[in-house]
Amino acid sequence: MDKKTVRDIDVKGKRVLVRVDFNVPLAGGEVADDTRIRAALPTIRYLLNQGAAVILVSHLGRPKGEVREDLRMDPVARRLSELLGQEVVKVDDCIGPEVEAAAARLNSGEVLLLENLRFHKEEGENDPTFAAKLAALAEVYVNDAFGAAHRAHASVSGVPAYLPAVAGFLMEKELNFLGAALEKPEHPFVAILGGAKISDKIGVVENLLSKVDALLIGGGMANTFLKAQGYEVGESLVEEESLPLAREIVAKAGQRLVLPSDVVVADAFQAQARAKTVGVGEVPAGWRIMDIGPQTVELFGERLALAKTVVWNGPMGVFEFPRFAQGTVAIAQKLAQIEAMTIIGGGDTAAAVRQAGQADKMSHISTGGGASLEFLEGKTLPGVAALEDK
Ligand code: 3PG
Repeated sequence: MDKKTVRDIDVKGKRVLVRVDFNVPLAGGEVADDTRIRAALPTIRYLLNQGAAVILVSHLGRPKGEVREDLRMDPVARRLSELLGQEVVKVDDCIGPEVEAAAARLNSGEVLLLENLRFHKEEGENDPTFAAKLAALAEVYVNDAFGAAHRAHASVSGVPAYLPAVAGFLMEKELNFLGAALEKPEHPFVAILGGAKISDKIGVVENLLSKVDALLIGGGMANTFLKAQGYEVGESLVEEESLPLAREIVAKAGQRLVLPSDVVVADAFQAQARAKTVGVGEVPAGWRIMDIGPQTVELFGERLALAKTVVWNGPMGVFEFPRFAQGTVAIAQKLAQIEAMTIIGGGDTAAAVRQAGQADKMSHISTGGGASLEFLEGKTLPGVAALEDK
C-alpha cells in the first residue's frame, strides 16, 4: 500500500482523531454483531500503547441530519469498553463546546467516543466548516473506516485537508488484500459473484472480466444471464433492462463465464415454499429460482479446486431462508477446503460465510460492503485518496 499508516507518524502525547466504521447492527439497545468494533481494536490499542489520546468517531445507520435516540453511539461505547478493558468516555455530540472540553481533558492512553456523525447533515454534504470543527479536536487524523471509505463525507475526505492523515491497520489490511487480488493475483484467479441484482454488480463484472480466469455467477443476478441465453426462468427476478448487457458479457467472457446448470426453485418467495431442484431449462411456469443446485455447486467447485486466488461477493441464493441457503453454504465449504487466497466481500457474503461456520478458514473477510464493491469496480475510494502518500 502506498499510503502512510500509523507506523509512519509519531503520536506520542498527541490527540488523534480516528475515523472508524462502527456502523454495527443493534438489537434491543445493544450491539448485535461487534465484528467491526473488534476489527478496529489493533489500531486503537497501538495508538494507546504509543501514548496517544484517542478520539473515535463514526456514523451509525442513516439518520440524515436528525438526532435519533435509537442511533446514539452509547451501546457501541459499552461494547468497546468491554473489549478494550478500559473506560470509554462518550459524549452526546461530535462537535461543539462539550466535545471540545472532553477532547481537551483527554489524557494519553484514554479513549473518547463521539456521537453519531450523521446527526449533522453537514457530514454527508462534506461541509468544510464541519470538517474543520472535527479536525480542531485533534492533532493527527487516522482513517481506519474502510467500510465508509467510498463515502466522500466530511469525516472521511474533508478532515484530511486540515490534519496529517494516515491509514489505520484495518484500512491497510483491507487495501492490501483487495489490492493484491486486483493487481497481482496468483492464477488461476476465480471470482464468484452473486446477490440479487446484476445492476449492482455490473461495474465489478466489467472490471474483473479482464483479470479473472473464471467468473462464476449465482444468486438472483444469474437469472438475467440465464434469460439472456434463452432459458425460461418463470417468476424469477429478472432485470429486463440489463438483458442486452448480459448478452454482451456472455459473448465477451466466453468459456470463462460459468452460469448455473441446475437451480432450486420454489412456488413462492417464502421460507416454507414448496421447493425442488431442476435443470436450468426446466423452471416450471409460476415458479422462481431461489438457489443454485448441487450440480452447479460441483461445477463451480471444479473451477475453485484449481484456483490460487478467489474473490467472492454476493450469496448464491436467498440464504436468509435456510432451505435456500444450501448453495451458499456449499460454496463457503468449497472455499474453506482449497489452498488459495480467499477474499470475501463484506455485507451479505460475510454474514453467509459466518453462518456457514467457515469464517476462520478465509484469508480475508472484508468489513466493507459498498466500499469493497467499489474497490472491486476499480474505483478510487475518496477516503483512501485523501490519505498521505508514503
Ligand atoms: C456500510 O455499512 O457499508 C458502511 O458503514 C457504509 O454505510 P452507508 O452505506 O450508510 O454509507
